[in-house]
Amino acid sequence: MWILVLEIFIYVFQQQRHLFEKYQNPCSGAMGVITRKMTEGQSSLPRLPVPTLQETLKKYLKSVKPLVTDEEFRITEEIVNKFGAQNGLGEKLQSSLEERAKISENWLTDWWISTAYLDYRWPVVVWSSPGLVFPLQEFHTLDDQLNYASLVIAGALDYKIMVDEKTVPLDMMGKDPLDMSQYFKIFGTCRIPGVTRDSIAFHGQSDNPPTHIVVAHNNHFFKIDVYGKRRLPLNAGQIFSQLRNCVERSTHPGVPVGILTSQNRNAWGKNYKQLCKDKLNKASFEDIQRSIFLVCIDGPINKSSGCRANDAALQCIHGNGISGNAGNRWYDKTIQFIIGKKGEVGLTYEHSPAEGPPIANLMDHIVKYIGGSKQDYQLPAVELSKPKRLMFNIPSDMDYEIENSKSSLESLVQDLEMTCFTFTGFGKNYIKSQKLSPDSFIQMAIQLAFYRIHKEPGAQYESASTRKFLHGRTETIRSCSEESTHFAQKMLDPNANSTQKVMALKSAIEAHKKYALDAVNGRGVDRHLLGLKMIAIEQGMDIPKLFMDVSYLRSSHMRLSTSQVPAECEAFMCYGPLVPDGYGCCYNPRSDSIVFGTSALNSSPETHSTVFRKALEESLYDMRTVLIEDGLKAKL
Ligand code: COA
Repeated sequence: MWILVLEIFIYVFQQQRHLFEKYQNPCSGAMGVITRKMTEGQSSLPRLPVPTLQETLKKYLKSVKPLVTDEEFRITEEIVNKFGAQNGLGEKLQSSLEERAKISENWLTDWWISTAYLDYRWPVVVWSSPGLVFPLQEFHTLDDQLNYASLVIAGALDYKIMVDEKTVPLDMMGKDPLDMSQYFKIFGTCRIPGVTRDSIAFHGQSDNPPTHIVVAHNNHFFKIDVYGKRRLPLNAGQIFSQLRNCVERSTHPGVPVGILTSQNRNAWGKNYKQLCKDKLNKASFEDIQRSIFLVCIDGPINKSSGCRANDAALQCIHGNGISGNAGNRWYDKTIQFIIGKKGEVGLTYEHSPAEGPPIANLMDHIVKYIGGSKQDYQLPAVELSKPKRLMFNIPSDMDYEIENSKSSLESLVQDLEMTCFTFTGFGKNYIKSQKLSPDSFIQMAIQLAFYRIHKEPGAQYESASTRKFLHGRTETIRSCSEESTHFAQKMLDPNANSTQKVMALKSAIEAHKKYALDAVNGRGVDRHLLGLKMIAIEQGMDIPKLFMDVSYLRSSHMRLSTSQVPAECEAFMCYGPLVPDGYGCCYNPRSDSIVFGTSALNSSPETHSTVFRKALEESLYDMRTVLIEDGLKAKL
């Protein structure tokens, strides 16, 4: 009886404390600076527009020009003019697309999720799932590692309270509120492999939401309930003891069943289907899929690049193959926190449900939570159950598939070269002081770096958020333009003076900023063209010639895959290139520095991320030098 009374007392006390903290502790998940309610105005967000056909075709022609010869451009113009002619194919497709837009909340959503993710059959590892590296830590003992892991889990659960209570501060773009639906899709979500097409299972907001996480250690998986009987989260000390229990029960490496999730999607889909015939496997898969998130307590890094940021990036992206930690993963899971043995920490996320910014906000919250003191006095939850080991029956014919997955992943591991660094020359503040857009400036530095190396412009993808619109995701900013090409040429021209270079820089930045504004307003080229193409496919037509033309192919062979993912702390997102002969380049612009995660493939003799880093740093410095020189001239 007295135990029950004590439990009730603790429960009431914790509720009171929770309410108190909600308004007192700056680290509290339930606080933040609530300026506008998270879901305010969400249902009345505008619908994604369909740009006019002529507007898109004009923009498209302009965007391909720097990437093709005059003769190729002439042919493209003919094709585009025919496509856009009065009563032509383009108008027919356009009117069907406009009809679709009238009757759907977002005409693009289903097509985008399918073409960009669920129908994409390459492995999610390297090719789709980004890594997000947290500020690096120093762990000397297992306790250090588990202590940090406990705080990451407690911080993430604290953030989940904000999501569940809808108190995450509303994201804004200028005066416009953004669509917040992605925040409700990151916990309790998992991609489900299919034989020809994947699907996504969302459990986080279901009637029966999960109350457990899954912890991976030494290729073993454990289910840990992270809420006590009264639905209060475990405190960090309790999580620590649960993690210790998992680690003590998995001292020898298990069969690396998780490595199967790194296969190409058709192969994994087929294997998954077969494994699901066994009830035990099915139940274990469901525990992983339903879990709030996964936490990977990693072993040592098998080979170090000599740079901790690179090592951490590789741990997050592919886990360094089977001799590293790649068996200690479930790559289908939306969020996997990665806690390295020596303090290389971060996460990897399966990209289909959300873009980088909500994930970066989660990370910022966790980092602040860890830096705060809330965890020190949070009371224990009551009645913990022991972590449950997830069991698998792996038939012997699956051994071959596991071996196959190991060697395919090993090829990817050998292929991916990452160069991650903090550029310390200057950051956003300096660029703003020059009255220039920091993002456009960095994008132009990337163009210049490419031109410097390859002596030609490279098609460049930058993600622009279309979350101003209901269920908006992204549009492509085609950062390579005639203006950016002219700028790169001028910068590398020994006969050009600083005034000419600055003029070229400003005009390139202006062109980029204009395209970026169009993109965030749903008036880019790529999603509209995708819509027209999908309409043609759905209506059983041949793919229009425009999509077979060299200009289309070259301008969508994105040799530079870039995006800005800002974070408050010194963290960075990173991913592989989009195309075999390309670069990945993600950046976090900070006040006085810029953190970059860049990548290239070793199998491409033309591209090296180390060379790219050098060219990028030189470009940033050169751009500042010409601004300074030109500024001085103006003062004379
Ligand atoms: N002079 C002085 N300041 C300027 C300026 C100028 N000419 N132009 C812009 N600035 C300021 C802005 O006001 C802003 O100020 P703030 O820091 O006080 O907010 C700041 O510089 C940054 O603006 P800018 O660099 O121009 O761009 P942005 O931060 O608005 O980013 C995009 C542009 C396209 C990256 C952004 O709109 C976007 O879509 N982000 C999402 C990308 C995404 O989804 N990535 C993840 C993919 S997984």
